[in-house]
Amino acid sequence: PRIIFITRHGQSEDNVLGRIGGDANLSEKGRKFAATLTEFVKQKIAAFAERTLAEQQQEEDEERQRPLSDSIALANGHSHYPPATSSLHEYPTSSETSSVDGTPQPSLEIWTSMLKRAMQTAEGFDPDVYTIRHLRALNEIYAGKREGMTYKEIMEQYPDEFEARRKNKFYYRYPGIGGESYADVVQKLQPIIVELERKRHSVMIVGHRAVVRTLLSYLMEIPTTHMPDMEVPLGYVYACEPRPFGNHLTVWKYLE
Ligand code: F6P
Repeated sequence: PRIIFITRHGQSEDNVLGRIGGDANLSEKGRKFAATLTEFVKQKIAAFAERTLAEQQQEEDEERQRPLSDSIALANGHSHYPPATSSLHEYPTSSETSSVDGTPQPSLEIWTSMLKRAMQTAEGFDPDVYTIRHLRALNEIYAGKREGMTYKEIMEQYPDEFEARRKNKFYYRYPGIGGESYADVVQKLQPIIVELERKRHSVMIVGHRAVVRTLLSYLMEIPTTHMPDMEVPLGYVYACEPRPFGNHLTVWKYLE
């Protein structure tokens, strides 16, 4: 069992000014969110690990009382879980989760984009304890020549572009080298999704508005027609838990 946390970075200095794209630092408010998020996710992961531990323990206790077979029984005192002191750690069950010396790896990985606002949001996680990865594919939709502008400026200076995007936001590609559309972002995130599905432990993704929309639409099967207009405000934390018939979504909101 695992959780996939998805959130946007904390408020950036560009968010305050209403500028799109760029590579700004977190604002004061954004830094406060980052600190709260870090503690929140650590606690959730610990609680989650304890819950599964308790559930597993109950099953084992029941099996001990009603053995299925005389020859195959639970070996007393041998649980495949770690001692209760390390609720944040999963006992390695595959080469993927065990390090070379066999020490248990943390059951949470943190993936952020390579933009400062996302990396700074995850700065409170100790890299000696958590695997932290900065992935270019998680970078925000690139607005090409319109990077750093406000929507109002685009509307006033490039009304045709503004209208074209409004009409067909999924396929509209920003002008300029590297300019992206939502369709491009979907392509860019494919390897992330493949890796995410392959993972067996929990992951927290710190992304951006278009990136979070794309990931949520994939995980929650939201049609691409709705996806570019989904409300994903700053300060919302989404948690997807894979279940047999689809993902279960929980949403939290940061109260400043
Ligand atoms: O304003 C924040 C931001 O992440 C921009 O960097 C990005 O261009 C935009 O949101 C994406 O949202 P939309 O597709 O609705 O313009």
